[in-house]
Amino acid sequence: MSGNSITIFDTTLRDGEQSPGCSMTTDEKLEVAKALVELGVDVIEAGFPIASPGDFEAVKRIAQEFGSRTMICGLARCRKDDIDRAAEALKHAEKARMHVFLATSKIHMEHKLKMTPAEIVSVAVEMVKRAVDLIPNVEFSPEDAARTEVNFLCEVVEKAIDAGATTINIPDTVGYATPQQYYNVIRHLKTHVPNIEKAVISTHCHNDLGLAVANSLAGVEAGARQIECTINGLGERAGNAALEEIVMALRTRADHYKVDTKINTPKLFAMSRMVSRITGMMVQRNKAIVGQNAFAHEAGIHQHGILQERSTYEIMRPEDVGYVGVNLVLGKHSGRHALRDRVKHLGFEVSDAVFEQIYNGLMTLADKKKEIYDSDIVALIENLTGETRDEWELIKFHTLAGTDVLPTATLEMKRGGSSDVIRDAATGDGPVDAVFCAMERICGVSGRLAEYNVRSVSSGKDAQGEVSVALEVDGHTYHGRGLSTDIVAASAQAYLKAINRAIADQKK
Ligand code: KIV
Ligand code: ZN
Repeated sequence: MSGNSITIFDTTLRDGEQSPGCSMTTDEKLEVAKALVELGVDVIEAGFPIASPGDFEAVKRIAQEFGSRTMICGLARCRKDDIDRAAEALKHAEKARMHVFLATSKIHMEHKLKMTPAEIVSVAVEMVKRAVDLIPNVEFSPEDAARTEVNFLCEVVEKAIDAGATTINIPDTVGYATPQQYYNVIRHLKTHVPNIEKAVISTHCHNDLGLAVANSLAGVEAGARQIECTINGLGERAGNAALEEIVMALRTRADHYKVDTKINTPKLFAMSRMVSRITGMMVQRNKAIVGQNAFAHEAGIHQHGILQERSTYEIMRPEDVGYVGVNLVLGKHSGRHALRDRVKHLGFEVSDAVFEQIYNGLMTLADKKKEIYDSDIVALIENLTGETRDEWELIKFHTLAGTDVLPTATLEMKRGGSSDVIRDAATGDGPVDAVFCAMERICGVSGRLAEYNVRSVSSGKDAQGEVSVALEVDGHTYHGRGLSTDIVAASAQAYLKAINRAIADQKK
């Protein structure tokens, strides 16, 4: 690998998916993997095959479908069963990597593993060798490396390279490092491990102190040439380093970092929206690079500057990250041709059948609101794609609400395949609650509403509202989204999607 090329290792499907409430179905993982391949990531960590049959299946299918184009990686602890299972899942990928890890910090060795440093070295060596025998491309992670005594870290790293590891990842597992300290650890490895040039050093930073991206970039300055990251910074607790921030920092400040990546940056915004839709994890409006406000200039003085010369207040061009603003684009009379162009311009490739659905959706929307924005089209497309077959269908609903009335909802629903219409009604704290209660009664699912968010897709009183919910059923969390100019209707759609996912999961 050339000295100024950075390998982007995406772990959205593994470390990202470990984030509470962010689990994905195998089909959803395949959808994300496809988008990651098109985004141009170098390595996809597709899962932890021993963790569950679902994880195994996802890694296997991603390896089969995408393993000839992009390197597919599976995670394993330094245990025989883990390694064998990961190798089995990866065996159909032309480009496969096994990622094995073992903790090396004093705290983890003493309290979690109850192993001595000598035992750690010996197990790491034995297991890296076993992994290399099965999958030649092996990455080794000394877990909690950022809190590991540095001379011991050098010893483990040297032995892992001797055993055949070609990538050495330095995890800041608990997000404790500071940029200078993380830089020093990697510099120390570069200068004290005799065989270090035989391996690529990788960063893997968690965001507990909000330093994951800064630490990863410090790692690059110290000589790391692989960065592990996730879309939207998804990950356990405060998350992992955000891919979009890292890539755009390296690109925008190429004068400083003097490295590049192969990421197709105009796809970043759509990628972020996809992961947010699938996981139900909203992206904060002011999030760097992919937040709705990331390119919005409010202050008059800024707007004036931008009109004169963009670079006065803009360090990146919105189009370089595929940013979708609230540009006014279409109206009721725009026609199919204009919509086709717009859909393409927004970076979506859709089949004729899906296009017809988008067109019909847009015409219905145009009856309700005068102006259609790019963000309305994106929301419509996202609402149509990637859905699994639903058990229950909402035919119609009616709500009663206001001051001095008991909020009530009446629903008519149908179960997949059957033509029987089931009607029921419920009361609630408000019309949304009443709809949810009636829906639970009809579908026979009872859960806890863990999250409810509503946001306006564009601007104006007639804007579409996008509702996202997280529903907890039997200890599992299911997400759903809905879209409508009527937020009670959007709430009903979102709740129904979450219920249908819960039912599909229970059936499995
Ligand atoms: O954070 C961590 O230490 C990890 C390892 C498995 C690499 O995710
Ligand atoms: Zn991690």
